[in-house]
Amino acid sequence: MSTTKPTIFSGVQPSGNLTIANYIGAISKWVEIQNDYNSIFCIVDLHAITVAQDPQVINNRIIEITKHYLACGINPNKSTIFQQSNVSEHAELGWILNCTTARMSDLKKMTQFKDKVGDKQDNVSVGLFDYPVLMAADILLYNTDSVPVGDDQVQHVELCRDLAKRFNNTYGEVFTIPNVIIRKEGARIMSLDDPQKKMSKSSSVATSYIGLLDNPQEAVKKIMRATTDTETIIKYDKKNKPGISNLLTIYSILSEKSIKQLEKDYSGKGYGDFKKDLAVVVKDFLTAYQQRYNSYTDDQIKQILKSGAEKLRPIANATLAKVKEKVGFSI
Ligand code: TYM
Repeated sequence: MSTTKPTIFSGVQPSGNLTIANYIGAISKWVEIQNDYNSIFCIVDLHAITVAQDPQVINNRIIEITKHYLACGINPNKSTIFQQSNVSEHAELGWILNCTTARMSDLKKMTQFKDKVGDKQDNVSVGLFDYPVLMAADILLYNTDSVPVGDDQVQHVELCRDLAKRFNNTYGEVFTIPNVIIRKEGARIMSLDDPQKKMSKSSSVATSYIGLLDNPQEAVKKIMRATTDTETIIKYDKKNKPGISNLLTIYSILSEKSIKQLEKDYSGKGYGDFKKDLAVVVKDFLTAYQQRYNSYTDDQIKQILKSGAEKLRPIANATLAKVKEKVGFSI
């Protein structure tokens, strides 16, 4: 790995069907910047088991997510891709951070946990509550400078910064303090059926999201049915026109045209015309995407994951050794 470039780290959980929101909010950004950084992209399987998973399903999903990374444009010869549970330092550092720096009060503030469980906290796994501490361990093991994520992960990266600073202050400098990288537009893609809610790969309503492996013809129908408003003007206004603003964002990222340009192109035209054109953009995107996705074999993927973990273990181990020394485990 080059030592002159700064490091980025990010990951996706192998749960649910990857959506265009994951692509637009996170992975397409990784692709854009991967050559400027030492880029590390993880399949965070330890995070996925914070909710119940079928062992066979998650096993396949680890392979699938890796294929998605490649189909999105991550270059395995330039970026390092690996499976979180293959580098045991993640769980080990997570535990040390749990005990030395993370506080119950920090985790109680996490909106993602509150949104997920509401008032039914007693029956969820301890891991789900502790999830952001393991995420901090992921980031801190590799002296990460920046973490490219969608908007819903920003609070977790902020917690990571706090934990790193607290550890450094208490035990002496070990961790690099990471920054977050988020898209200006597209960091929060909303549901197609309810533009007040974020698009989620774990949604049970298939019409709320566009899966990257959706049948392109089905995706066309989903776009045509997407909730908009009763006006007819195609204008970006997140607050008053969340539906059309969300569609403009999707259109803009997939077509690489600015939102301003799209507003101009569609001035005087109706929502029907706009949606029809966007549907074609989405259909073409998915068709080409799925061709790439299907061109990789499972054996190729296993090899990529194996060599990724081999490359990263010494780095993770060196950071953990420093941490252990600081907390008094160096005999
Ligand atoms: P996950 O698997 O939920 O999502 C993967 C990435 O997709 C982004 N994303 C979105 N972006 C825009 N609009 C949306 N509607 C949308 N939904 C999801 C997420 O922000 C994320 O970047 N905790 C992480 C995984 C993780 C991680 C890490 C990330 C574990 N360790 C260390 C960075 C660094 C997660 O659950 O992502």
